Amino acid sequence: MKVLVVGGGAREHAIAEALKRSPQQVELYSAMSNANPGIKRLSVATLRAKETDLEAVTEFALKHGIELAVIGPEAPLCAGLADELLAAGVACVGPRRAVAMVECSKEFCRNLMAKYRIPGNLAYATFDDAKEAAEYIDSFPGDVAVKPVGLTGGKGVKVVGEQLRDREDAKAYAREVIERGIGGGRVVIEERALGEEFTVQAFVDGRSVVGMPAVQDHKRAFEGDRGHNTGGMGSYSQKDGLLPFLTQDDYDFALEVIRKTVGALREETGEEYRGVLYGQFMKGREIKLIEFNCRFGDPEAMNVLTLLESDFVEICAGIVEGGLSRRHVNFAKLASVCKYVVPKGYGINPAPPARISVDEEAIRREGAVLYYAAVNEENGEIYTTTSRSVAVVGVAESLAEAEKIAERAIGHIRGEHIYHRSDIGKRKLIEAKLERLRRLRGE
Ligand code: GLY
Repeated sequence: MKVLVVGGGAREHAIAEALKRSPQQVELYSAMSNANPGIKRLSVATLRAKETDLEAVTEFALKHGIELAVIGPEAPLCAGLADELLAAGVACVGPRRAVAMVECSKEFCRNLMAKYRIPGNLAYATFDDAKEAAEYIDSFPGDVAVKPVGLTGGKGVKVVGEQLRDREDAKAYAREVIERGIGGGRVVIEERALGEEFTVQAFVDGRSVVGMPAVQDHKRAFEGDRGHNTGGMGSYSQKDGLLPFLTQDDYDFALEVIRKTVGALREETGEEYRGVLYGQFMKGREIKLIEFNCRFGDPEAMNVLTLLESDFVEICAGIVEGGLSRRHVNFAKLASVCKYVVPKGYGINPAPPARISVDEEAIRREGAVLYYAAVNEENGEIYTTTSRSVAVVGVAESLAEAEKIAERAIGHIRGEHIYHRSDIGKRKLIEAKLERLRRLRGE
């Protein structure tokens, strides 16, 4: 089967590896804007183009007789790549634009949740007038989050008490979003959600929803969850599919929010959502939906796809043809810890591209799995870019052991201008999170 993977990050490397593990004979093709050596090595042919260049990607798919495309990032989905490929007769794991809107527009998402009374929604309002936004912020009874409506590559959301000092800051930022046209120039003002974030991802075939193990990502740049927000520095999952602060009821609630959203999307647009739906939730006094993503999370994909025991090609077939609930979807009952090596300054002022050395053999000997991210391979050398560089995943019976494997493995990636967070998955950080949550919940 000829399968195309779109995207050049560690998430897409994990997707490509999962496809290649299939007992079905997969001939892999790839399309990406960087030169990811891990994906390239698995591919028969690679298109080097922007993932949002719909014409180039579709032409490449047709030229190679691609039967199935798995689209990794949100930007091509929001640009309508699934629609283009489907029109050209290529089946897609990744939703059409009409339903990808659940991520592409934060306004669409909140309105959908309100209209269909989906639990977990936050108090919110949307504005394209800075004065009205300011009046709303002034009248709001608590702290707010200010979010551009459209995509901003993970850099647009600012929250009072985190990136914003107070209401005045929030009003100024809302004005900036509107006047500078950030994320389309409309802004959602939301109630600030407090607590511990967690991710639940699900395979979706338009109707049925199959959940994956819960994962916790770490957005902050530095140890102890300090510093600016990033795309995610690493993540962990537990062998029971839950998290130290997450009960089965919490997980079931989150999956129900996803299930109701899939139904609401069908009702609202007449389109079926086919792909992966990612819910980012906050557990505080209650569980609230922070946002949906219309794709796997990054780094969360590396946790769940490393644990996936079932045939991923079969799951993809279930997504595009329907009947997902009849397919076998099984994850190893093990803990996983993913850690990212990133360039110094990643997320604000990244170091210029530099060579790094990756001892793949030593990483394998540690028992870890390696996924290349936003790097370029040139003449056999690996160079960083402005984004995350390489991820390693440790898998083991216990979280402590998985963390040790990941930590030992990451030591085999060397370079002057890179760093990683060594605390992800460690007991000390998890205890601090549990204590914070207990205090918030008054327990
Ligand atoms: N882990 C955050 C994201 O995938 O957007």
